[in-house]
Amino acid sequence: ISSISFGETLVAWQKRHGRHSLPWQNTRNAYRIWLSEIMLQQTQVATVIPYYLRFLERFPDVSALAYAEQEEVMSYWSGLGYYSRARNLHRCAQIIVEEYKGIFPSDPVLLEDLPGIGKSTAAAIAVFSSGVRAAILDGNVVRVFSRIFGIAEQASDKKAKEKLWQLAYELLPESDLEAYTQGLMDLGATVCVRSRPDCSICPFSTSCIALAENRIEELPAKKTK
Ligand code: ADE
Repeated sequence: ISSISFGETLVAWQKRHGRHSLPWQNTRNAYRIWLSEIMLQQTQVATVIPYYLRFLERFPDVSALAYAEQEEVMSYWSGLGYYSRARNLHRCAQIIVEEYKGIFPSDPVLLEDLPGIGKSTAAAIAVFSSGVRAAILDGNVVRVFSRIFGIAEQASDKKAKEKLWQLAYELLPESDLEAYTQGLMDLGATVCVRSRPDCSICPFSTSCIALAENRIEELPAKKTK
């Protein structure tokens, strides 16, 4: 499938079949978007939602979070796991207040320099808060790309990772970055899931290499130790 058709197909699918009312959608508030992306890094949507809403009630903006005691921040994170996320979150809020006057940068390169924000999270924040043209590549996206494009290399391999990032850039549409990025997340979370994906409702079923070659079960390639 060409880059153009991939983007157009995904955007159209997201608009019709994607998720549109998650608590961190329908806003361009970078603080809210950042908080959601950090919580969603290692935790499922359904688990995140109540934590996210409670957290925002207590820390409604970046300065409320920056000036809070670490201990209280941790108490609102308690149960979500991966607690370094909460410590980085608190430090990041302090940097945003002290060095950025409380305003998140929209440049993914600047976002990436902040604690707890990797390349893919930086891109997601920039896309959803500013509509910037940036590429995401998390575990779900690796799975979607590996299957549709028939990529057999393990994503843990450095060369394969570079190739996947390059593909992620090449596929970016010229506009509609929010729907496109959300579409990648939605397809990976609701259709092209790890086990027993629902290929019958996938917008890429006629172009998916893994499906055509009956390799859905073996892609993406698992880590060998
Ligand atoms: N996982 C990571 N970011 C997400 C988002 N914005 N919406 C749904 N799931 C996600």
